[in-house]
Formats: sequence, C-alpha cells, structure tokens
Amino acid sequence: MRTWSLDDAPAAFRLWGDAEVMRYVGDPHADLARTRAALARARAAQDASGYCVWALQAKDDGELVGACGFHPAGIDSGLTLELVFHIRREHWGTGFASEAARACVDHAFGELGATRIIAGVRHGNEPSMHILASLGFDDVGEDGDERLFALSAPFRPVDIQ
Ligand SMILES: CC(C)(COP(=O)(O)OP(=O)(O)OC[C@H]1O[C@@H](n2cnc3c(N)ncnc32)[C@H](O)[C@@H]1OP(=O)(O)O)[C@@H](O)C(=O)NCCC(=O)NCCS
Repeated sequence: MRTWSLDDAPAAFRLWGDAEVMRYVGDPHADLARTRAALARARAAQDASGYCVWALQAKDDGELVGACGFHPAGIDSGLTLELVFHIRREHWGTGFASEAARACVDHAFGELGATRIIAGVRHGNEPSMHILASLGFDDVGEDGDERLFALSAPFRPVDIQ
C-alpha cells in the first residue's frame, strides 16, 4: 500500500469508474476529473492526518489492483477510523482485500494509535461481511441501509512502576 501520485488517476478511474465495484459504495466516477479530485483529497488527508484510503499495488508487477485504508470517523473520545476496501473486478477472489484489510487494521492499532475501527457494509455485500468477520469485527447493528461492524484495539497491559 502506498500514497497516491496524480499519475495514478487513469488506473484509479478504472477502479472507481466501474459500476460493479461501486454497486455497494456509491456513484461510479463519471470522469477522470472526479478521480483526480478524489486522489487530491486522499493526498491532503495523508498529509494532515497520516492516513487515507491508500493505493493498493501488486507486489509482483506493480499493477494498481485497488484501494484500501481509512476515512476519519470521529465518533468517540479516542481515534475511530472507518475502514474501506475496493478491488478491481478482475482481481476479486484472489485474497487482495483480506490481506490489505488485515495490514490496515495492524497499522491502525499500531502506528496510528487508533482505539476503534468501524466499517459500514450495505445489505447484500456478503464478501465484505465475510472479510470483516474473518478479521474479528463484531456486527454491532443496523445503520441506515448498512450493517455496522466494529473492532476495538487489543488490550495492552501497561507497566506500572
Ligand atoms: C468486497 C471486495 C473488496 C472483496 O475483494 P476480494 O479481493 O475479492 O476479497 P478476498 O479475495 O480477499 O476475500 C473474499 C472473501 O469473501 C468470500 N466470499 C466471496 N463471496 C461470498 C459470499 N457470497 N458470501 C460469503 N463470503 C463470500 C470469499 O470466499 C473470501 O473469503 P475466504 O478468503 O475466507 O475464502 C471486492 O469484491 C470489491 O471490491 N467489491 C466492491 C467494493 C466494495 O463493496 N467494498 C466494500 C465496502 S467498503
């Protein structure tokens, strides 16, 4: 995973412009300008907060296969992040989302110091629910047209001198 370069726009547009990828996420990007704006926002979020929805690149050939990372959620006193993962359709079912989501969770509870991670999944998006359950997320209920999943930071005993 890495931050975005503006040169990624055509490949990112192939991801977010695909109506099938965006079926449970939102409107597909209609043009490259919308994708460029999304990449600019991700770069600004990374600079401001140290996280964003990152580019997900295959280790073998460097191809951009998707995006995975966090939006701020900010709904409690600690740092709560919202996890998202989007994979190019031709790579579905090959384990990219599971591997990337696990790495994001480890990074959030490690370097980023997050206290809680949430994820909203629209009804019918079974692969996403399966991935979250595999990572230990709890189904915490209904949130509009989504089911809400949550995972709290692992308890770490503190040395008291
Ligand atoms: C959801 C998505 C990210 C999954 O990506 P992926 O790379 O295919 O995911 P993986 O290959 O890592 O894992 C998919 C898992 O779902 C399981 N799965 C697939 N179809 C399923 C179904 N109908 N019901 C239950 N589980 C299912 C697979 O068996 C696999 O689990 P396993 O590794 O335990 O066998 C991808 O389909 C996608 O980009 N969808 C559009 C964007 C989206 O909806 N993102 C989620 C909202 S943020």
